[in-house]
Amino acid sequence: MTAEVLVEKKKLAKPPLEIHHLGDRVLRQPAKRVAKVDAEIKQVIREMLQTMYSADGIGLAAPQVAVHKQIIVVDVEPDEAVKPPLILINPTIIKSSRDNSVTQEGCLSIPGVYLDVKRPSEVEVSYKDETGRPQRLTANGLLACCIQHEIDHLNGVLFVDRVENALLLDQELKKHGFSSRAVQTVAS
Ligand code: NI
Repeated sequence: MTAEVLVEKKKLAKPPLEIHHLGDRVLRQPAKRVAKVDAEIKQVIREMLQTMYSADGIGLAAPQVAVHKQIIVVDVEPDEAVKPPLILINPTIIKSSRDNSVTQEGCLSIPGVYLDVKRPSEVEVSYKDETGRPQRLTANGLLACCIQHEIDHLNGVLFVDRVENALLLDQELKKHGFSSRAVQTVAS
């Protein structure tokens, strides 16, 4: 992990970026590929990490902070101070397992709502790291779920679009002040 994007895993009183919520159009706009990992992109990455840790999240995608670039940051071990987060630029899923896992998901853009989502248990992803080098990784468990959730954000898709239990979804959204009209159901 390069020092340029390294941040301390702590909560800031004033996080650098604002996280947009369900119903906001910016979340539905697809992100563009990053042509070059330059100083500006590294600054965005730093601020995304600081914003994610400040919000107690384990993943954040650039569209959530109104940056329409294919950048996601993931840290499924936010309490492990020395373990670096994952930074995926232009991520592409190149292989998905046939077997699925159901995980209860949440999203910093839909605070308070936690619901089951079914996704492939294992995925292979190609991406560029924060130095611009091409990388590949195979993920399973929580990491696989989180990476797929964040890549969805880059395509303007939110986890609530994949929730199969429509009745429960409607209830949970209402309970937390969201409208189910903001959901754009994705066929699974
Ligand atoms: Ni999310």
